[in-house]
Amino acid sequence: MGKDMTEDQAGRLAPVITVDGPSGAGKGTVSRLLAQRFGWHLLDSGALYRLLALAAMERGIALDAEQALESLARELDVRFESGEGGSERIVMDGREVSGEIRSEECGEAASRVAANPAARRGLVALQRAFRKAPGLVADGRDMGTVIFPEAPLKVFLTASAGERARRRHKQLKEKGISANLAELESAIAERDRRDRERASSPLVPADDAVHLYTTRMSISEVVDELHRLAASRLGVGGSPGEPE
Ligand code: C5P
Repeated sequence: MGKDMTEDQAGRLAPVITVDGPSGAGKGTVSRLLAQRFGWHLLDSGALYRLLALAAMERGIALDAEQALESLARELDVRFESGEGGSERIVMDGREVSGEIRSEECGEAASRVAANPAARRGLVALQRAFRKAPGLVADGRDMGTVIFPEAPLKVFLTASAGERARRRHKQLKEKGISANLAELESAIAERDRRDRERASSPLVPADDAVHLYTTRMSISEVVDELHRLAASRLGVGGSPGEPE
């Protein structure tokens, strides 16, 4: 473990809040807003699987090539930067790929890559390196079970498959990407099945995770609920709505 900002002077690890759950449960938006509110770092682990899939496709590496994917994962040259107006810029090998990795094709390829234990192993160190002071919000599928099993607050977000497909549809539309709702719903169901049934780090809640069913909750209600949990469990952030 590096002696940089990962540990404070008393040797304590920076706190982590893990936010796991299936696609479209709201993890990405909620995690970003919570990290902004606390001034913490954000790990979008799904983006790393998407980047790995894109890098593999560009190099002609098969999405089930164990060793090649593990080596590629260990060598990924990626940077997460904030662009204009607080937007996110993801740069791989010096090229901006923020839009490209959000396509359905890349999500599909990421889910195939993610079923490969060697590829998952290759991404562990990169993910853990995001844990820096003052804290980290980690968004994914196995953040609380595999990457940060000792996290002091673990949340598992979910919502009905129909609602998740509607959210995804809206998100894509906002980005000018057209998609068919029924096709999205079946693609989401298929991806969920693959994520849940894979042998390596399947999508399951950690035993000590707090479950939130978000179908009827707004984004800000979910963020406030996480803020309350963080305040009571970790003593950070004061109360939602109060100045810090
Ligand atoms: O969250 P996002 O849709 O960007 O993730 C893309 C894919 O990466 C998911 O469908 C899932 O298969 C995989 N993934 C994973 N473990 C994570 C994050 C994402 O298996 N921690």
